[in-house]
Amino acid sequence: MSNRSLGLDGRLHRYLLEHGVREHPALARLRAETARLPEAHMQIAPEQGAFMQWLVRLMGARQVLEIGTFTGYSALAMALALPPDGRLITCDRSRDWTAIARRHWEAAGVADRIELRLGPAAASLAALEREGAGPFDLAFIDADKTAYHSYYETCLRLVRPGGVILVDNVLWGGRVAEPGGDDPDTEAIRAFNARLAVDERVDLSVIPLADGLALARKR
Ligand SMILES: C[S@@+](CC[C@H](N)C(=O)[O-])C[C@H]1O[C@@H](n2cnc3c(N)ncnc32)[C@H](O)[C@@H]1O
Repeated sequence: MSNRSLGLDGRLHRYLLEHGVREHPALARLRAETARLPEAHMQIAPEQGAFMQWLVRLMGARQVLEIGTFTGYSALAMALALPPDGRLITCDRSRDWTAIARRHWEAAGVADRIELRLGPAAASLAALEREGAGPFDLAFIDADKTAYHSYYETCLRLVRPGGVILVDNVLWGGRVAEPGGDDPDTEAIRAFNARLAVDERVDLSVIPLADGLALARKR
């Protein structure tokens, strides 16, 4: 995982942030608070947040689904880009990390656009399907890697045709292409990438943004 795009050194990353990212002050405050946590590397990179906001606006998205909230940066980025009647549902099992998220969503004035589903993501997604939630314009998968395939299949059902599923960390710090690296997460991401590469149900582009972001547009 990386909260800076792969292959960029510190100097070039700073240049990118100064010239290519307009980070909202509320996002900058959340990033500063999260930086004090040992798990700060789990947060998406600011340039990825900017890209996701741009995509929300480009698509005119109104309904967004997220799996993996952490302290709420990606949810806040997308919520800030939604119209006032837009809605984002985000799933996470951590009460502590999402308490930080809630505080920052409220301070940014977008808490009314965000619904947090607390608990195992598989159960939250099953509940959303039972409730007939969606269709969503955009989904973002950024939680436990060994469940990526199952999250992706559920998102494919919940997203409208023409909607987009974003999948984070698909280049996994480069480990997917290195020999060895047979830990469960690396193997799961490799297997997921291999299936996605030939999935004819979507138009696919994988971009080397941050830790690798897959963009799958449902046909
Ligand atoms: C990489 S972080 C998400 C980062 C977030 N998108 C951001 O921008 O800061 C992954 C999150 O997934 C959550 N998670 C991991 N496994 C989960 C599961 N089985 N169910 C629900 N949440 C899970 C963790 O609690 C963690 O907050």
